[in-house]
Amino acid sequence: MDNLDQLVANARAAFAEAANAAALEQAKARFLGKSGLVTEQLKALGALAPEQKRERGAEVNRAKASIEAALTGRREALREAELAAQLEAEALDVTLPGRGAASGGLHPVSRTLERIERLFQSIGFVAVDGPEIETDWHNFTALNTPENHPARSMHDTFYLEGREDVLLRTHTSPVQVRAMLAHVERYRGQDPMPDLRVIAPGRVYRVDSDATHSPMFHQVEGLWIGERVSFADLKGVVADFLRKFFETESLKVRFRPSFFPFTEPSAEIDVAFKGGALDGRWLEVAGCGMVHPNVLRSGNIDPERYTGFAFGFGPDRLTMLRYGVNDLRLFFEGDLRFLSQFR
Ligand code: PHE
Repeated sequence: MDNLDQLVANARAAFAEAANAAALEQAKARFLGKSGLVTEQLKALGALAPEQKRERGAEVNRAKASIEAALTGRREALREAELAAQLEAEALDVTLPGRGAASGGLHPVSRTLERIERLFQSIGFVAVDGPEIETDWHNFTALNTPENHPARSMHDTFYLEGREDVLLRTHTSPVQVRAMLAHVERYRGQDPMPDLRVIAPGRVYRVDSDATHSPMFHQVEGLWIGERVSFADLKGVVADFLRKFFETESLKVRFRPSFFPFTEPSAEIDVAFKGGALDGRWLEVAGCGMVHPNVLRSGNIDPERYTGFAFGFGPDRLTMLRYGVNDLRLFFEGDLRFLSQFR
């Protein structure tokens, strides 16, 4: 093998050894660079006689062309290897199952509230709401619970910092007062005033927290005022609602004497299911009673002419009973494993 064949072989070996583009460029410089081995051979031609120069020149150029071809081949091979490595590293497993589109749904308590509204709307009640940040007057005073009345300690109230006259409402009953005032205003001069029938679902707040109490929970207030509204109407409306809500005619409903400052007489409403895990157990679901004359007066309604009943349901409790949920806190933790079961 003469020295040119050796040179080509050396170049091929050097290129093959270059593991990446940078190493390849360095190897290239050693052979084809300004003072590279091939360039040296070309420079050496100058010293030859014209006859030899042509022959040798052709040989050197052929060697140079082989080396350049080897360089291009190696470049190509390195680029392909790099691409293959990149494809390998970024490989996607297209056979993995997709995540799918998650569909949302109504919160179970929202379902209950909608259901309650719909059932009461079907017998002529109108859904209304009131503010969650309420005045002390609407929440207590107007509801026959004057300052220093012992009944105020029945509720552990969140007051706004530095204010004694504004609080987070402890129940939805202040909506009774707002509804009466608005109704009287609306039908001013009309005699008799048309019946007032409202249902007021919403959030209420008390300083209380355990498995069956949350500092924020829901209530649904109901109010019916007219010229001849009696406790019998209250019993009929409530018992009928509860049987429709739980979809069972065999539901037992009991009115147990109780006390609220804003109703007289007052009662607590218990239900008992037939069959199932709760068979025969009395469970409290609401407070109710005939609207106290002082409360009618707070609403600018004449207690000598009009009477009415009011009730306050705990829809969180109703939801627990309807779906068999045993911990109230589950409703308010926002855990999708729980909530998605109600979609
Ligand atoms: N507001 C009462 C409570 O929160 C419930 C109630 C409403 C009682 C209406 C009677 C009439 O305990």
